[in-house]
Amino acid sequence: MSKFKIGVLGSGRGSNFEAIAQAIANGGLSADLRIVISDVETSRILELARKRGIRAEFVDPGGFRTKMAPLSEARVVALLQEAKVELVVLAGYMRVVKEPLLEAFPGRILNIHPSLLPKFPGLEAWRQALEARESVTGCTVHYVDSIVDGGKIIARKEVPILPDDTAQSLHERIQAAEHHLYPEVLSFFCNRP
Ligand code: GAR
Repeated sequence: MSKFKIGVLGSGRGSNFEAIAQAIANGGLSADLRIVISDVETSRILELARKRGIRAEFVDPGGFRTKMAPLSEARVVALLQEAKVELVVLAGYMRVVKEPLLEAFPGRILNIHPSLLPKFPGLEAWRQALEARESVTGCTVHYVDSIVDGGKIIARKEVPILPDDTAQSLHERIQAAEHHLYPEVLSFFCNRP
């Protein structure tokens, strides 16, 4: 059976990408990681992809801060299509996804977010949970649509907030949970007939 083709988009450290790539290497996830694309030329995610021999591409985001310029996003779409990607996996991709990508991959873009959505969408969600004095937070994998961190929820994993947690310690534990949740969800997708 041919493997499900995945493309990853990320802007930063790439720890979720690494967890997915490791799950594939271990045989826990049967997928073909075709390409990694970043809007940050010096991002670690591109470095990690190259180390694994996976095609890694920087796409200049253009003049906007929170989204890709339309031509840049069209370039992302072209790269994904050229790589024959079937599922787009956002892993720390810090730009809002707009029409070119949403229309090219309807219902086939996933994201991971560091809170129990719908609580705490947006930036530094772990800090938001801490400041709101929650006793539990976590992470969520969801479909991506035009509402930021607002698409249909696929799965969530809880992480307790400990009395002496700092923003950093809490974020580290949430990330550890993300590294289990994302490959688990992807294996569900990739094993579908
Ligand atoms: C992850 O914690 C992910 O949940 C978050 O960015 C981090 C990327 O880490 N994404 C969002 O906040 C999206 N709204 P990584 O680059 O090490 O995978």
